Amino acid sequence: MPQNIDFGHAPETVRNWKSLASEALRSGATTPFYLFAAEPIRERISELEALDFGRPVTHWLSTKTQPLAPLLRWWREEGRPVEVVSEFEFRAARVEGFPVGQILINGPAKHRWLPALAEAGMRVNFDSAGELETLLPLARRLDWRCGLRICTREEFDPEHSAFATQFGFTPEEARDVLPELLRAGPAPEVLHLHLRTNVSRAGIYVSALSEAIDLAGETGWRPRVVDLGGGLPPGHTTGRDGKRFDNSMNLADFAAQVRRLLDAHPYVEELWLENGRFVSAGSGILVLKVLDAKRRRGLRQLICDGGRTMNALVSNWEQHRLETLESRQGEGLETVVHGPTCMAWDQIARQPLPSDVGPGDHLVWFEAGAYHLAWETRFSHGLAAVWWRDDGGLREVRRAEDFESWWGGWNR
Ligand SMILES: Cc1ncc(COP(=O)(O)O)c(C=O)c1O
Repeated sequence: MPQNIDFGHAPETVRNWKSLASEALRSGATTPFYLFAAEPIRERISELEALDFGRPVTHWLSTKTQPLAPLLRWWREEGRPVEVVSEFEFRAARVEGFPVGQILINGPAKHRWLPALAEAGMRVNFDSAGELETLLPLARRLDWRCGLRICTREEFDPEHSAFATQFGFTPEEARDVLPELLRAGPAPEVLHLHLRTNVSRAGIYVSALSEAIDLAGETGWRPRVVDLGGGLPPGHTTGRDGKRFDNSMNLADFAAQVRRLLDAHPYVEELWLENGRFVSAGSGILVLKVLDAKRRRGLRQLICDGGRTMNALVSNWEQHRLETLESRQGEGLETVVHGPTCMAWDQIARQPLPSDVGPGDHLVWFEAGAYHLAWETRFSHGLAAVWWRDDGGLREVRRAEDFESWWGGWNR
């Protein structure tokens, strides 16, 4: 793992998070805890809204990326819509007061759960011919606004790039279903793509979109909406190689390239985006407490009350800023930061940290706002506490899981 990476944070961003973490601790926060805030999300959305795609853009909040109740509430109060990919996410959105037209339903195998929750006016992007066949009578009867997710050549299994992902309609499948949909309805309104996470260059989106638009053209389909999914890389995070995910992504250029392509297809009236990671990665931190310190084979090891296994699975393939909360001045010592589980793999970072960090000190792991809550585990311990800050102030929004709820779910 490379050392001393420049994550590119503004110094005041780091200071603000640390001071918020200290405020939470003074207010009684128990570690490990996540601390999330609305403001960074507002900033990322403003950044996206400043881009010129040449047509109105709707930003759907990717619920799975950050399934956080106060965030959904805040987002609804901002008058914005959400994207969901499962029954639970859909029900969470309904519980939080989103009207059905403000919820975009994506994801595979929706025919398993959607019929029981079907309502008039749902917005559904179909994922497969099998799903479509089961749901079509409901879509017709309940006047759903529909889309088709297309699996272009730019979408592949991240572990085996020769293979396609399991999502969406292949071009052949789309050619099969589109004529009947266009003839008998509901004519799909939305051409949907989602390539993957951390799409590195604008050109990748554009080549996928042009492939999908050409396919639509062949069948006589003129989608009113293009939904480009998510995948924009967030700032301040790197792969294991230390290279920032957003190195080669220039947002203005991304917008310009998409605009140029869409301008050749004026029937596309709207653009939808569903960015998860870009919008929420920087909206949170994870605060850990050091419990024990060891030295062996040239390394110092800090054992903390949280870590990769329980709270930060993404540290398996991503590197984020990690700093001491208290100011420590000792020389930098090569340090591995471990969680408390019995897995050698439970290491959130390896990097130099001041030699005088020890038990009782706190560590802050940045960019914890995307895919951390979603991938929390209850491995040997309960779920962490969650704190949230918006215009209403800083407060605990979920208590740390106690033994009764960790063990109490078994039938007796
Ligand atoms: C359909 C869909 N939309 C949006 C997203 C959000 O992706 P990201 O967090 O990479 O922006 C995902 C993530 O898997 C997805 O599956």
